[in-house]
Amino acid sequence: MAEDFNTRWNEFEEMCNSCNGCELRAGATNVVIYRGSKTAPLMIVGEAPGADEDRIGKPFVGRSGKLLQSLIEAYGFGDGDYHICNICKCRPPENRRPLPSEIAACKKNLAVQFGLVQPKVILLCGSTAYEGFFGAKPVMKEVRGKFIERNGYYIMTTYHPAFALRNPANKMPIFEDMGKVRDKLTELGAMPPWQGLNAE
Ligand code: URA
Repeated sequence: MAEDFNTRWNEFEEMCNSCNGCELRAGATNVVIYRGSKTAPLMIVGEAPGADEDRIGKPFVGRSGKLLQSLIEAYGFGDGDYHICNICKCRPPENRRPLPSEIAACKKNLAVQFGLVQPKVILLCGSTAYEGFFGAKPVMKEVRGKFIERNGYYIMTTYHPAFALRNPANKMPIFEDMGKVRDKLTELGAMPPWQGLNAE
């Protein structure tokens, strides 16, 4: 079983690395697939790699990633509890948003990834992640912080961490939404209860 999973995972990575479904691969240094665990109860989905991610080959390793990581750790998530990825696996030039055609081209990769990871809860960070998942532009202040249940999966949308970098006051809603995600994972039996900010 584990061997079968690893074979399927390797095939998935190979499929991503050799993908030429859109123009972005040509300008990317690395195809940025994931960081964290390959089988985690929480999948966090961002927009697309930036310069740091493209260089290192892992998602959310720059300034936004450091903020995201601090929230993850504040809620006691260990490395085995989360899987971080993006709607698009290759960096768009000049950090522009991925185009709808690029999102659509990368969707088949994300679908395979989703089927392998089989998360219980999905946290979409920002409007591009929402659009990639639901195919419509969101009004962020209306959709954020609410779970949508689809086929037994719980999907929450929150602001992108870059929004909190622009104004630290925006960190609070992301923190609150992450708290709801953490509680949902406990409710689903996937993680023990959160012990609070000062827990060892
Ligand atoms: N922003 C994203 O949406 N994803 C990353 O991986 C980094 C920054």
